[in-house]
Amino acid sequence: LRNFNKKPDRKPAADTNPSSSASSEGSKSQSALSSSNVSSGPDSPASGTLPEPFYPVSLGDAASDLPVVLGKIPENLGVPAIPAVGAPEAIDTQDKGTPDKWVPRDPRMVRLTGKHPFNAEAKLSDLYSQGFFTSTNLFFVRNHGAVPEVDIEKAKNWQVEINGLCNNPVSFSVDDLRRTFEVITIPITLVCAGNRRKEQNVVQKSLGFSWGAAGISTALFTGVRLADVLNFVHPQKGAKHVVFEGADDLPNGHYGTSQLASWARDRKRGMLLAWAMNGKALEPDHGFPLRLVVPGQIGGRSVKWLTKIELSSIESQHHLHFHDNKVLPMPVGPDQARAETQWWYDPRYIIRDLNVNSAIATPDHDQVLAATSDSEEATFVLQGYAYAGGGRRVCRVEITLDEGTSWSLAEIKYPEDLFREVTHDDPVYGRIDLTEEDTCFCWCFWSYAVKVADLSKASSIAVRAMDESLALQPRDMYWNATGMMNNWWFRVVIHHLD
Ligand code: MTE
Repeated sequence: LRNFNKKPDRKPAADTNPSSSASSEGSKSQSALSSSNVSSGPDSPASGTLPEPFYPVSLGDAASDLPVVLGKIPENLGVPAIPAVGAPEAIDTQDKGTPDKWVPRDPRMVRLTGKHPFNAEAKLSDLYSQGFFTSTNLFFVRNHGAVPEVDIEKAKNWQVEINGLCNNPVSFSVDDLRRTFEVITIPITLVCAGNRRKEQNVVQKSLGFSWGAAGISTALFTGVRLADVLNFVHPQKGAKHVVFEGADDLPNGHYGTSQLASWARDRKRGMLLAWAMNGKALEPDHGFPLRLVVPGQIGGRSVKWLTKIELSSIESQHHLHFHDNKVLPMPVGPDQARAETQWWYDPRYIIRDLNVNSAIATPDHDQVLAATSDSEEATFVLQGYAYAGGGRRVCRVEITLDEGTSWSLAEIKYPEDLFREVTHDDPVYGRIDLTEEDTCFCWCFWSYAVKVADLSKASSIAVRAMDESLALQPRDMYWNATGMMNNWWFRVVIHHLD
């Protein structure tokens, strides 16, 4: 970036797109800004026509029998549009020779754990320029192992067994779910508990790999309410937990985790058994043909390739339920955590809801800005995202240019609220209706116009958000062995080049 008038290199995807060009003229001195969310990757995709949906094999005549969503997002609803770039269509050459050699992926995804398993995020600027919804090909992916290979025949016969402490155990195909329960569509932001871990790994290497700040994405998910399905099986007294298992077979058994039954049975918590994302069948990387989606909680609870749901008196006993998604106390280092296993089994250290968090997307890492003295009033628009957990709303975002001595309020936009003004019903999406809901399941976008004159005197920019429970992002990092839930102020350092 050479001056403040740089235009975004692609068209905004929707009116609600958080990107906007910065203002101001002239150049006198330059400032380079670097943040800890370093990621590399090619330029943003060019917007174009919506590609055909991808399926692992050609659907042909089978399409009409399948519980997949075929069609466009309803138009004229007044809700944010899904970016024109849809699902990945080609095999990335990097996957050759791996168990995922058949999985289509977008080569612009930044791989964080080498070739395999696939763990990837988009460049933060690419993600942010998409706006409220993330196209499926740039949606972050967290896979602990190989993607289960599911073709159309397998998808048709896919069963999710629901049993354990209930009076009416049952096994449902995806189509059974669709025919038996009300189908709904809601926007949901998923966030990996490791989002922003890279900053923690700089302080001391944790057990986890380095996510930047793009371990977060938003999609429109279609499915049935978990609460309705659980009511159908008549849980018994004593069923305190609901345990979920996925088909992926990992070195220590299947991926699995659990929810408190009282939460899982609460319709307001919005948990879905979903088969579609952004109006199309789930991609293999995102759980085709069926996954759990848990809004407001860490992404690890949203079990992909879902095969089992068990009502139980005890929480999940799956290996990763304990050895993942925990925030151990700060003094416990990675070696101690590995050696002394009791830490993992202490129920106090479980993570459920996301914590309040925010990040700066504009200016981008290594962006070079030309400062100006032409006008005292010239401004540059700082921008980014914020989110909170448990359905809570972010109510405040604040910016400091002096390391927290003084703070200014940023403006916040909540594109999710547009969904509270519409209702829609059709055979594909089922019911879209958030008119009675006030829980927040999605990210929001903040912006703050800072005077260029002030920016050229500052040595850093930092942002912090507060949610409606008044939880506030802390000044200091809570470093922990798994490197999870990092939510200290997000800082961008300014280097003055002359
Ligand atoms: N489900 C299964 N079966 N296997 C997995 O490896 N990863 C979890 C969760 N569900 C995982 C899973 C984690 S840690 C996250 S953050 C989310 O999936 C990521 O969902 P996504 O890859 O669709 O973005």
